[in-house]
Amino acid sequence: MKEKELQKLFQSLTLKEKIGQLVQLSGEFFGSVDEVSTGPAKKMGIHPEMVSLAGSVLNVAGAKSVISIQKSYLERSQHKIPLLFMGDIVYGYRTILPIPLGQGATWNPELIQENYNNIGMEASKAGIDVTFSPMVDLVRDPRWGRCLESTGEDPFLNSQFAAAVIKGFQGNLTVNNVATCVKHFAAYGATEGGREYNTVDMSERRLRQDYLPSYKAAVEAGSKLVMTSFNTLDGIPATANKWLLDEILRKEWGFDGVIITDYAAIHELIAHGVAQDEKEAAQLAINATVDIDMKTSCYANQLEPLVREGKIDNELINQAAWRILCLKNELGLFENPYRGASINEEKFMHTDESRTKALQASRESIVLLKNENNILPLDVKKSKIAVIGPYTNSKSIVGMWSFHGKQDEFTSIQDAFEKLDTHNIKFAKGCDYLEDYSILGSFGKMLNPSNESTLDMEQQTLQAVKLVEQSDLVVLALGEHMLQSGEAGSRTELELPRVQKKLLDTVAKTGKPIVLVLFSGRPLVLTNIEKQVDAILQVWFPGSEGGQAIVDVLTGKFNPSGRLTMSFPYSVGQVPLYYNSFNTGRPISTSQHSDRFLSRYLDAPNGPLYPFGYGLSYTKYEYANLSLSSEILNDETTITISVDIQNSGSKAGIETVQLYIQDKIGSVVRPVKELKGFKRVFLQPGEIKKVIFEVNEEMLRFYDKNLCYQSEKGDFRVFVGHSSQEYLEADFTLI
Ligand code: BGC
Ligand code: BGC
Repeated sequence: MKEKELQKLFQSLTLKEKIGQLVQLSGEFFGSVDEVSTGPAKKMGIHPEMVSLAGSVLNVAGAKSVISIQKSYLERSQHKIPLLFMGDIVYGYRTILPIPLGQGATWNPELIQENYNNIGMEASKAGIDVTFSPMVDLVRDPRWGRCLESTGEDPFLNSQFAAAVIKGFQGNLTVNNVATCVKHFAAYGATEGGREYNTVDMSERRLRQDYLPSYKAAVEAGSKLVMTSFNTLDGIPATANKWLLDEILRKEWGFDGVIITDYAAIHELIAHGVAQDEKEAAQLAINATVDIDMKTSCYANQLEPLVREGKIDNELINQAAWRILCLKNELGLFENPYRGASINEEKFMHTDESRTKALQASRESIVLLKNENNILPLDVKKSKIAVIGPYTNSKSIVGMWSFHGKQDEFTSIQDAFEKLDTHNIKFAKGCDYLEDYSILGSFGKMLNPSNESTLDMEQQTLQAVKLVEQSDLVVLALGEHMLQSGEAGSRTELELPRVQKKLLDTVAKTGKPIVLVLFSGRPLVLTNIEKQVDAILQVWFPGSEGGQAIVDVLTGKFNPSGRLTMSFPYSVGQVPLYYNSFNTGRPISTSQHSDRFLSRYLDAPNGPLYPFGYGLSYTKYEYANLSLSSEILNDETTITISVDIQNSGSKAGIETVQLYIQDKIGSVVRPVKELKGFKRVFLQPGEIKKVIFEVNEEMLRFYDKNLCYQSEKGDFRVFVGHSSQEYLEADFTLI
């Protein structure tokens, strides 16, 4: 629709009709039953008239449902403004990608972008217009279950992935694409104690330096929507935070798209204690320029009286409704209210093309953490192998945000092994995921474990151990339960579930070599179990093609290349733990102080068990000849940094070369190092490649003493290497 026409339509709307556009309801209001609810389920007290004016629908998917809801809505609608269908297509629709923490471990934003293009197509064919993705919250605390949804602890890397997901999903915003909604704005990942929905409080410097860049990158990549977060920031809930939403997001960054709340977040302003009632909550949110109220009656019931009583400016509602109409128009809904929704949607789901790409992402997401005596890759022709553990034949391999996947389309580890032409591999479940499922609450019922066994736990273990004894080697497929991470999946202990640890102990007693295949939505604490096993493959929740990807890595068909993007703690007591930290006045390595009086723990190392950037391969890479084109940099020049990488092993592989920089002296303390670039290189055995990075003044900017974003002259150190802890170093000066 031409803008003029849209304006005409807009002007014909009554206040109530405009408010309707600001209201988002779930499918039950429109007669849909298949909905996933993460918020309060009690009746909302919305007048049927408002339901008939509501502007958008939450989490209804499937072309049939979408088309029928849209059709009957439009039939009854006076102005024929189509509904927007929004949903959580977080990292997959029918084709499920590895969880974002695993996507981060690929260090391959291009591949991730291609994958999101595919799942965006699936979602649009199922009638989705807007996806609540990407989640780009920076994470430093593995206790928080939503680490699963993030690409990790680094602002630079997170920004690259934020942009990739948005470009993949949105493409050119045709009927094969969906619009994105970046979330959760802002700093939700810093929730205190890692406890879900908890307080966030930090300096503005840290907020701007570490937490905001990925959202900003998302806005710059063109995300059409932004979602507010549940948390407070400096005492003000994000959903009522005018400074955050209006000053920073809209005015400073120039975001002119739609802001939607997280689930029922306007109503939660009452529980937070900043609003007395729904009316005050609605007033705070609209003043903060929140456009869409997700799943409460605050806007629906309170905005009109607020305008009538002169408590809010009518113009705020006009602006919000206009932004929503513009989005609908940009998506082409006025011309085609069903957009991508296709009655032939099946044809577009889980296609060979999307599966192949997802398989590649799953393979690249897997991180080899340990490989004593090169026990991996496995020789399935020569060795007798027992594959044991609850994840052996599990389809619970996709993580929490994958509601539309179909288990019969997922490949388990056993499925993939059984395709190999060998009789050397035997399987047993060994034990359940958990000793007690009640910790998962009612949500646990949503899962339908596909590998239920009729044996009791003891018999299962006995059967497994028998297999182990007849084998040369054990693959143990263990990990946290799929619902122990994800939203509201906070934990204080990050060990393996007790039953699984018991199985590991029992298997370890046989003395057979053990390869641990580890599933999790977060870094677990592996300090104790690391000593009991010979190899560890961190596989996250690898997605619908996960079993195949794991077997490809185990057998050496794919040489692992994944690298951690979140530090694996030695102990939960170290959390928050991240590589880009400060030195302190008494660092353990270089301080002159006596042993005790240093910044350290008495009972654990300071550093992680496995650091940011870490990951092994079946070959070895050697770094040499780090050289800088100049040791002096100014505002107009660039320094070219080059390094030679050699594959000194016997297998071809992909090395991710990482560039870090340290600003040695600043007006404010600067991190010990910060990621500034990375390159993936493919090397044949024996091959040497030169890798080049460019460094300029802009890359050295930060929020200085006065919160100005600029560089400061002085000495810098560069680190180029395999991880945040293995590198070559050189110095330069900015003049
Ligand atoms: C989550 C969001 C999600 C929303 C809608 C909330 O509980 O925090 O990430 O997009 O529900 O389902
Ligand atoms: C302690 C102070 C103490 C000072 C002098 C420092 O190490 O932090 O509390 O007063 O030594 O002994």
